[in-house]
Amino acid sequence: MPIDNTRRPVALTGDRTTGPLHLGHYVGSLKNRVSLQATHRQFLLLADTQALTDNAHDPARVQQSVLEVATDYLAVGIDPDQTTICVQSHLPALAELTLLYLNFVTVARLERNPTIKDEIQARRFGRNVPAGFLCYPAAQAADITAFMATVVPVGEDQSPLIEQTNEIVRRINRQAGRSVLPEARALVPEIGRLPGIDGKSKMSKSQGNTIPLSASPDQIRTAVERMFTDPKHLRASDPGKVEGNVVFTYLDAFDEDRAAVRELKERYRRGGLGDVAVKRRLNDILQEILAPIRARRIAIADDPEHVLKVLRDGTAQSRALTQETLGNVRDALGLFKLDPSG
Ligand code: TRP
Repeated sequence: MPIDNTRRPVALTGDRTTGPLHLGHYVGSLKNRVSLQATHRQFLLLADTQALTDNAHDPARVQQSVLEVATDYLAVGIDPDQTTICVQSHLPALAELTLLYLNFVTVARLERNPTIKDEIQARRFGRNVPAGFLCYPAAQAADITAFMATVVPVGEDQSPLIEQTNEIVRRINRQAGRSVLPEARALVPEIGRLPGIDGKSKMSKSQGNTIPLSASPDQIRTAVERMFTDPKHLRASDPGKVEGNVVFTYLDAFDEDRAAVRELKERYRRGGLGDVAVKRRLNDILQEILAPIRARRIAIADDPEHVLKVLRDGTAQSRALTQETLGNVRDALGLFKLDPSG
């Protein structure tokens, strides 16, 4: 039975549908989302339109990943009776709001957004950045405000987008002379960004350095074995470095026994603790976290119609809500009314 959570503060977040979710997403925001279900009216957006802004050449991947990501949500414990899951490209109000918001942001400001800047660089777009990509912060502002969300659980890389959302909100409220839209705050986990297993950069599928939430026990073990440690720590008896050592970064993120981690770090620094032992501990912990997720995934895969129904229901609910916000924004910005009584 769906619960009546309509009076709670609204939380909204989304994921580009470009591939299966991984452990970086898990510590980055999925864990927060599972807790928010109990206290917030929560919406999760499968951001397929945003995914197209840098994947227009590969629509099959974007389309296929919608169900993949939805399955990841359910597998980590998102409960569709408490959280509404919806598909971005089926909510036309979001596209219309985006178009209106684009008038409240400058190209210079978009180009200065640190997240956009980094992403343009990483993709080597240069001046050939697709306009849709450069402008996606306005679309993300539309996503957030359409649901009147005040809390946005995201990884830290998304904070500049929430900041820019709030700038747009303030401009629109000032233009309207009243508070039409609420400002939102990013809910960012304390553990910063999880590095990939190579220790080089963030987890990203294109780098082949991720551990997907759907990893098999063997894949988890192999990934932990391949993890970057301290290249100068050749023998167990050598003193080792903990900083930049991915195994310890992951223990910080996933091992709840803080005191034990502290002690392992001391022994590693002093010398006398081998990589194999630390990796064995991390492997045990990751296996334990991912086992129930895997079990739920198997149950979900048994009933593919169920996932589709969750998306249909969630999107229908979201359509009503987002249309209402669009109506308010159209009024606030003074668009022409064909039917003056409406
Ligand atoms: N930009 C987010 C990502 O890269 C996805 C996203 C789309 C999102 N719309 C959103 C996040 C709204 C938070 C709020 O995964």
